[in-house]
Amino acid sequence: MTSSLYISTTEPGSGKALMSLGILELILRKTTKVGFFRPIIRETPNGKKDEDIDLMITHFQLEQTYSESFGLFYKDANDLIGKKQHGEVVERIIAKYKELEKKCDFILCEGSDYLGDSSAFEFNLNIEIAKNLSCPILILGNGYEKSVEEAKSSVQIALESYEEEECQVIGIVVNKVNPEIVDNLHKALFKENKNSNYLIAVIPFKQKLSSPRVKEIAEQLEAEVLYGHQRLNSLVSHYLIAAMQMQHALPRLKEDTLVITPGDRGDMIIGVLQAHQSANYPNLSGLLLSTGLKPEASIAKLIEGLNDPLPILSVQTETYETASKVHDVHSSITPADQEKIALSIKTFDKYVDLEKLESQIRTIKFKGITPKMFTYNLMQRAKLQQSHIVLPEGNEPRILEATSVLLAREIVEITLLGKREEIEQTIKKHGIQLDMKRLRIINPVESEKLTEYAQKFYELRKHKGMTEEGAKEYMMDVSYFGTMMVYAGDADGMVSGAVHTTGHTIRPALQFIKTKPDCSVVSSVFFMCLEDRVLVYGDCAVNPNPTAEQLAEIALSSAETAQRFGVEPLVALLSYSSGTSGEGEDVEKVREATQIAKKRQPDLKLDGPMQYDAAVDLSVAAQKMPESEVAGKASVLIFPDLNTGNNTYKAVQRETGAIAIGPVLQGLRKPVNDLSRGCTVADIVNTVAITAIQT
Ligand code: ACO
Repeated sequence: MTSSLYISTTEPGSGKALMSLGILELILRKTTKVGFFRPIIRETPNGKKDEDIDLMITHFQLEQTYSESFGLFYKDANDLIGKKQHGEVVERIIAKYKELEKKCDFILCEGSDYLGDSSAFEFNLNIEIAKNLSCPILILGNGYEKSVEEAKSSVQIALESYEEEECQVIGIVVNKVNPEIVDNLHKALFKENKNSNYLIAVIPFKQKLSSPRVKEIAEQLEAEVLYGHQRLNSLVSHYLIAAMQMQHALPRLKEDTLVITPGDRGDMIIGVLQAHQSANYPNLSGLLLSTGLKPEASIAKLIEGLNDPLPILSVQTETYETASKVHDVHSSITPADQEKIALSIKTFDKYVDLEKLESQIRTIKFKGITPKMFTYNLMQRAKLQQSHIVLPEGNEPRILEATSVLLAREIVEITLLGKREEIEQTIKKHGIQLDMKRLRIINPVESEKLTEYAQKFYELRKHKGMTEEGAKEYMMDVSYFGTMMVYAGDADGMVSGAVHTTGHTIRPALQFIKTKPDCSVVSSVFFMCLEDRVLVYGDCAVNPNPTAEQLAEIALSSAETAQRFGVEPLVALLSYSSGTSGEGEDVEKVREATQIAKKRQPDLKLDGPMQYDAAVDLSVAAQKMPESEVAGKASVLIFPDLNTGNNTYKAVQRETGAIAIGPVLQGLRKPVNDLSRGCTVADIVNTVAITAIQT
């Protein structure tokens, strides 16, 4: 029996996406076959998709198609109701839901938007659907600009209606509440429902989640983008209708303001562009020019000569009408909007009692460690550590996106290396939300530490022919500087490689961070997050052709890393032959490595040589290595050389869609980790969390 949950709102704009993101993130830590369903959605023009369905399918990579994700369009439902076929509406929705249910262990249903003509009809429809689908209900209220009493009574009325209909309600969440009344509202709801076991949560209003991007304003107002195409991702948190003179407009500018002014106000256009540049005024989001008038030729020439100007939009409508249209702009969370997604999940985790919610939907079949659970544990452990990680590739947009997520979720402290102005330009250009005040940036070339670090490097490498001058040159390189920060204790770990090669990233660490006392070789593992378990692959990134001794050490280090990250190590040393059946130099090397490793750590469950199928498949293992306590159950797979390891991890990653987290370096005295140059923002976030845990 599939378990499910129905989010039912009481009015539009309650922030269902935040709830759905938080709930799906929670469920995916427990089980992988998760579905998302909306009973009724609006038909969207130009092939666009329902925003929340698109967001959940894309962000969580749910295995369902768009058309499997909803019951009916409003239009079809209204047609049927017009023909007095109300029952048909519910039947069609249930039929679609049941189809999706076949392939899921859990389905999250997100109720309707209340954008139709009759909210009473929608409310009743939600009740009827939830009842028919046997979904427990979580009531979501909208607390925006409401008093404690108003917010409480609107959800209590909904609750009574559900109770009257004998629906199974599991909790009440009120979102977008004025932060000042969060505690009082929570107490009031708790008091009102003290005899129930409802989950009760009150989530404060977050301006960032409700702020549209300039791009959304341009699209919804059908504005012409005159300038600043690069910055359309900027958030808009405030509006200023600039009908006054410049000197009066300036003091009214706040962070992320969109200034609305008629298109012939050249003075205002220039003033706003200047204010944005000025260190004495806040960063602005752009200008919206009303009345269809465009900047005069001389003003246009000036703007065209600017490097990376603010977005300037033009609409035909008068200023008053423009302002009122802007007020109605709907902001959404798109799959690309990593900051808003991270902030939504963080907010949900902070204000909702996750344990209670989990226990309320307890029919979920809990499985072994899922990829989500693995990454969730990573984040939780990294958070406890509060490490300081240096990211040398400070000007790379993916690094900055990841930094935004890591800082927003308070996982680590970050120092970026690079030129401050260039990094700030990239942040602005890509509309990345980063709290600049929390961001440490060091330009190695100008750093007061440069001489000290160069001297240290010279001392460490002079026996290898390093000169004082050469050491200074090396220290200006971000990989060397970042690694030296770790060596000197000015940072706890380093992550690089989104732009640089593996050699460039890890060579400084090999040269002077060096190996731990009991290790002679630095190697790496990948955590391969398969559908229902996590395997550890080593070494797929560092040692091209390890000797038998090195291979044995790689196996032992990989077992230790696995254990450290919650994977019980059963180590298989892989070859093209299993047990005693094969001969040849390559098999011999693996056989010898197995013996060395067994001798060094007799208690460890480790065996080899064996083929991959014998290592992971119980039936093959029973045939080929019936005596082995590892074969068929291996969790740590050690490849004989880099050719095999690197290609195997990439093949598994590409062919199965497994998430490969790594390479995680092991054997170093202090943590430095390499990224693949094709890495995603999520890969960077995971690698930084791993590095934090290794500190
Ligand atoms: N463990 C410990 N120390 C090492 C290791 C190791 N595995 N490898 C090199 N060193 C040390 C050496 O002892 C030497 O120290 P010293 O200068 O104090 O004597 C120093 O590092 C430099 O050694 P070199 O032999 O000059 O090694 P080099 O710097 O040329 O290369 C590297 C090291 C970069 C790791 C090389 O082995 C390499 O390129 N490996 C393959 C990387 C790769 O391309 N991986 C695949 C792509 S990654 C991916 O797909 C995610």
